[in-house]
Amino acid sequence: PRKIIIDTDPGQDDAFAILFALGSPQELEVVGITTVGGNVPLSLTTRNALKVVELAGRPDVPVFAGCPAPMVKKLMTAEYVHGETGLDGAELPEPVTTAGSEHAVNWLARTIMEAAEGEITVCTLGPMTNLAMAMTMEPRIIPRIREVVLMGGGFFEGGNATPTAEFNIFVDPHAAHKVFHSGVPVTMAPIDCTYTAQMTPEWLQTLRATGSRAALEAANMADFYCQYGDHKFPTKARPIHDACVTGYLLSPEIYEQRRCYVTVDISSSETIGMTVVDWWHVTGKEKNVNVLRRIEPAPFFELMLERISALP
Ligand code: BDR
Ligand code: CA
Repeated sequence: PRKIIIDTDPGQDDAFAILFALGSPQELEVVGITTVGGNVPLSLTTRNALKVVELAGRPDVPVFAGCPAPMVKKLMTAEYVHGETGLDGAELPEPVTTAGSEHAVNWLARTIMEAAEGEITVCTLGPMTNLAMAMTMEPRIIPRIREVVLMGGGFFEGGNATPTAEFNIFVDPHAAHKVFHSGVPVTMAPIDCTYTAQMTPEWLQTLRATGSRAALEAANMADFYCQYGDHKFPTKARPIHDACVTGYLLSPEIYEQRRCYVTVDISSSETIGMTVVDWWHVTGKEKNVNVLRRIEPAPFFELMLERISALP
């Protein structure tokens, strides 16, 4: 199986991404989970990650707490989407395991240095602070990373945190800039892509009916998460952003992709955190990002259903 590290700020959609990966042990080996302040503060994202591995029946997957705040900016959180705990909607017991004592940034750098070259894929599902800090602290990890697969950014759909910036990039644009220009192969799932695979109440009903506890609690947290934006969306269907990262790792052929030059605005007051894509290659700059554009929703949701319901 492909070795991945999941860097995350759970978040209901992060939880789906993690469960989807843990339910796919033949293809993916989750080496560890690192947490960051994002949707909610770090103490909660860490606790949530521990709860999710436990829900998956995988308390052996180590969790390491990382940066509580972005590299330069102040932390902005998103309780307005995810609730006060970050995982509102689900009834999850207090975790029995605790986070590792090593700082996530140290753990990331050490684990990537100790693994074979090109062995580790890093998936970021939140602000990219931990990975950017690890790259700053130990630049020798940069050529050793197989690929960074991230959820973040937005192009033609604009932003969901500001008119031009998506939440994960907006929270820590400096970190995203560092990673995008690091030279590591980057694949990104911007909101343009995540909006093409929307979770429906019917699908959640099917998930719930599979009878696994993980599936049931995932459906419960999704019920809460899907209320967000009721006044803006015409239907009850919602994107399940971070799970698109796992879907890509498992089934890249159901994604429309395009290599482009992408950068992040880190200097303007109005558009900081905006991802800028050179769609038509007008700059002639080296294409640094594989942009995921569109997902075939039917196989995506079929696979996620199968994998999450395979958990206990
Ligand atoms: C991203 O922001 C967070 O609220 C979600 O977990 C996802 O990672 C979507 O913009
Ligand atoms: Ca997230």
